[in-house]
Amino acid sequence: MSIIEEQNEYINKIKKYNEEKNKKFKYYILTMGCQLNENDSEKLCGMVEKMGYEKTDNPNEADLILFNTCCVRENAEDKLFGKLGEVKKQKEEKGAIIAIGGCMMQEKHITDKINKSYPYYDLIFGTHTLYRFPEDLYKVILNRKKQEDILDIDGEIYEGLPIKRSDNQKASVAIMNGCNNFCTYCIVPYVRGRERSRKPEDIINEITSLASEGYKEITLLGQNVNSYNGENGVTFAKLLEKIVKIDGIERIRFISPHPKDFTDDVIKVIAENEKICKIIHLPLQSGSSNVLKAMNRRYSKEQYLNLVEKMKKQIPNVLFSTDIIVGFPGETEEDFEDTLDVVEKVKFEQVYMFIYSRRVGTPADKMENQIPEEIKHKRFDRLKELVEKQTEINNEKYLGTIQKVLVEGTSKNNAEMLTGRTESNKVVIFEGEKNLIGTTKNIEIIENCLWYLKGKILN
Ligand code: 5AD
Ligand code: SF4
Repeated sequence: MSIIEEQNEYINKIKKYNEEKNKKFKYYILTMGCQLNENDSEKLCGMVEKMGYEKTDNPNEADLILFNTCCVRENAEDKLFGKLGEVKKQKEEKGAIIAIGGCMMQEKHITDKINKSYPYYDLIFGTHTLYRFPEDLYKVILNRKKQEDILDIDGEIYEGLPIKRSDNQKASVAIMNGCNNFCTYCIVPYVRGRERSRKPEDIINEITSLASEGYKEITLLGQNVNSYNGENGVTFAKLLEKIVKIDGIERIRFISPHPKDFTDDVIKVIAENEKICKIIHLPLQSGSSNVLKAMNRRYSKEQYLNLVEKMKKQIPNVLFSTDIIVGFPGETEEDFEDTLDVVEKVKFEQVYMFIYSRRVGTPADKMENQIPEEIKHKRFDRLKELVEKQTEINNEKYLGTIQKVLVEGTSKNNAEMLTGRTESNKVVIFEGEKNLIGTTKNIEIIENCLWYLKGKILN
């Protein structure tokens, strides 16, 4: 029996056990962090729904409470501890099962703290043992005994886990896991392990079946997506070439690439294929060559700007989004101004801004020249101000243009209106019939509302 078949047996055993109780069992899930974690949560949801649990958004009515954690920045820790406090009553009074998984569980100081301060949990599982969740949960249910299932060695990638997707137009597909880069601020290589790429045929099969289910847009995921290195010498560029040939898929995105690995063949594939969105997420982190060196990013300010220029030349109308950290140890006023300078020059469509957060076990945490919180916050606000100013100007350029929009559904705030996204990921709201959902339409942009655009369907 394969590992996944074995887990399926556990899923069936739990299903049977729950059915015998003659009660509708419910689960609640909270996902923190990046899209890879969201994708892991879709797998968790797939497993527990197969066990017969029904989803609820209210932890107070759940029989199974799942936390899928992230540890990239400190605020997620505070959030988890707060939530663990909140669900204590549900456990004590109603006997709910509390399961905590994900990146944070790979950190010993965190599991120690949970064992000390929140000992009422039932199951802790890590990033390398997600596939074993049914077995671990079964042991909890059967023995009513706490389980801790964490592996320090890199887990294999197992194919064929059940999955419950959160959307029916757009889907994310993890193509690789882990990271070998060891940027000095980042905890990811320690909690997700080394890079492991899925087999190209497994990826192609997954996307082909997504297309046959009606999915139109896919986002390829990996901590370092462009270092994909599949069997038989399939590089990221070659993988993209295979994916664009899949009928039915209209849009392809990928996150997050590393600038140092952005090879010319990838640029060429993007330029030559209409399906690949012409907005590239290119994490900058800092605009200062000194800080980049201390971060171990392996590119300088000039190299980053040259890469952007090269892409602008070779990919007509390409746009960029980015991640930036402010307040890395040793960042001077001059260094910070270099970051502002790159933002001014590149004119990103979107900037995800982060205040540097010390992560236990990373080299940057041990650096002596940490930046005082007050300065970090002031710099963050200055960057935010510049980014907001640019967004406003950026949005103006859409006015009067015709954008290809994938119609995703009705607007959350106004059920009479439809909503969708441009290739550059801007939200557009417009009037239209519900039967257009799932199609791609040409929309003329008629109004700029800062966080979204208003448009009119053209026939
Ligand atoms: N502090 C702040 N931001 C961080 N990121 C990663 N590690 C840290 C940290 N210690 C940011 C980076 C990365 C994004 C996912 O999170 O910008 O690209
Ligand atoms: Fe972290 Fe750098 Fe790896 Fe991204 S590339 S996951 S920032 S170590």
